[in-house]
Amino acid sequence: TVRNLFLLPGDGIGPEAMAEVRKIIAYLNEAKGTGFVLDEGLVGGVAYDAHGSAVSEEDMAKALAADAVLFGAVGGPKWDAVPYEVRPEAGLLRLRKDLKLFANLRPAICYPALAAASSLKPELVEGLDILIVRELTGGVYFGEPKEIIDLGNGQKRGIDTQVYDTYEIERIAGVAFELARTRQNRVCSMEKRNVMKSGVLWNQVVTETHKAKYSDVQLEHMLADAGGMQLVRQPKQFDVIVTDNLFGDMLSDVAAMLTGSLGMLPSASLGAPDAKTGKRKALYEPVHGSAPDIAGKGIANPIAMIASFAMCLRYSFNLVTEADNLEKAIANVLDKGIRTGDIMAEGCKQVGTVEMGEAILAE
Ligand code: NAI
Ligand code: MG
Repeated sequence: TVRNLFLLPGDGIGPEAMAEVRKIIAYLNEAKGTGFVLDEGLVGGVAYDAHGSAVSEEDMAKALAADAVLFGAVGGPKWDAVPYEVRPEAGLLRLRKDLKLFANLRPAICYPALAAASSLKPELVEGLDILIVRELTGGVYFGEPKEIIDLGNGQKRGIDTQVYDTYEIERIAGVAFELARTRQNRVCSMEKRNVMKSGVLWNQVVTETHKAKYSDVQLEHMLADAGGMQLVRQPKQFDVIVTDNLFGDMLSDVAAMLTGSLGMLPSASLGAPDAKTGKRKALYEPVHGSAPDIAGKGIANPIAMIASFAMCLRYSFNLVTEADNLEKAIANVLDKGIRTGDIMAEGCKQVGTVEMGEAILAE
């Protein structure tokens, strides 16, 4: 099998973290015959410096043709003054749009060794393993009308519109139910049907989708505000949470902080299955940004990037054993007390990016 990966390391610590993933890919190819074929492009500030746009048409075509895209991070003070259309973030937005990545997967996993670093009591989060499935291309961030109008009496009105169509809710619910089947088989859907029409429809469509195709999965509904409360009160009650763009944005950031550092958090964004091949377009990236404050120092935590690659193994290639092993390797290294600066704790050994990557590879 040939498996095409397109790497977009980007700016700041992006390339430093990506270098550690490359070593793991090389190992898997050599020892497990995984057949990954790598190509690499430019995105963000480095792309702007090279050719004046945040991602070239040539690299966009490669991203569209690849089986999966691994993305580092973009941005930095060097590019704060570049024109809006070609700012580094435009590269990521273009990728999300053209790959039609409507499902954003944000796991919140609390490694036992890091439970003490959580903002909650260790016993509440130890062993936590939640997956938030956030709708990424619809809802209030994109709905029309979206404008500020002048009311003429010294007042202005800011308008955003929450819009969801049946097919958008159906397909995100389908992703959540399918993922639940590979986990604890439980989905909690969150909306505000008590005050929002789109919430009423969300609730109906999730319920109907469940009944029609996924009745083997346990389904629960929760109002999104109550869901936020439950996330910090008793987070381990959840397996998969499915919710809209706005609520998902907030709830996934809350869930993230249950688990410790930004340097630990992976994510995946999935598109619709291809009509011919059935394969989903996908982009995998750490949640953190380019961390200009520590870039070039060799101290960035590569775990978020490596864990994003573990998600890639699992979701794009169904290499479940390899994904499990990689995640176990991360847990083992943390158990041994090996830490980058951002997750450093008393009695542990502080290492840099390369040592952390190599420790995980050795495991
Ligand atoms: P950031 O995530 O880059 O950094 C926030 C803080 O966390 C910094 O103190 C940083 O040193 C630390 N940090 C982040 N990742 C780390 C890691 N792997 N290991 C150790 N420490 C880590 O967010 P910030 O500072 O708000 O943004 C910096 C730049 O990144 C901006 O240009 C921003 O636009 C961009 N950005 C890009 C994203 C992306 O490419 N998806 C996402 C978020 C921000
Ligand atoms: Mg956010």
